[in-house]
Amino acid sequence: MQFTVAIDGPAAAGKGTISRALAAEFGFAHLDTGLLYRAVGAKGGDPETAAQTLTPEDLARPDLRSLEAGQAASRVAVLPAVRAALTEFQRSFARRTGGAVLDGRDIGTVICPEAEVKLYVTASAEVRAHRRWLEVGGDAEQVLAEVRERDARDMNRAEAPLKPAADALCLDTSTMTIEQAVAEAISAVKAGLAARKSHAD
Ligand code: CDP
Repeated sequence: MQFTVAIDGPAAAGKGTISRALAAEFGFAHLDTGLLYRAVGAKGGDPETAAQTLTPEDLARPDLRSLEAGQAASRVAVLPAVRAALTEFQRSFARRTGGAVLDGRDIGTVICPEAEVKLYVTASAEVRAHRRWLEVGGDAEQVLAEVRERDARDMNRAEAPLKPAADALCLDTSTMTIEQAVAEAISAVKAGLAARKSHAD
């Protein structure tokens, strides 16, 4: 069975938690596509070459979750050649047998416009910055500034800007608990699976 769940949204909106919960619930594979851009940014050198030669070791670097790696990722992510080099891997992951959840910025719009379920997970910049601060600590104002800077770069770039797909279900998690957000996402996937089954019957 091929079944793709596309989850997009800005930094620290809860995409990762929701994606992991969906993958566990339905037995789907999960790809955090942000990690690909983080690894390209962290590798250094020419970004296009870095994207073309990514190895599993590059993706296992312990420093990829830092604020600096997030900034470096969003700087290389504006480059069309970097995005092109990472497209094929993401598309084939999305269509693997057994179902897949991919989270990122352009999964429902560019990588997998035919995904069976699309979610756009968001929250206010303040709420997202607070969540990120709980993870990384440091200066709260600086974390908020970093979230805003990355939002602006991701939403305003020419290539594959962050925006909801026209047919995405929007989940604003600002005032939701993680359990509520996960429950809504699970219902959306159940509805997608049921729609596909009735289509096939
Ligand atoms: O975890 P967080 O939401 O903070 O960020 P991430 O998903 O790891 O993504 C890091 C950066 O990679 C983003 O700010 C984007 O600039 C870029 N990215 C992208 O352009 N397209 C994707 N599909 C995933 C990430």
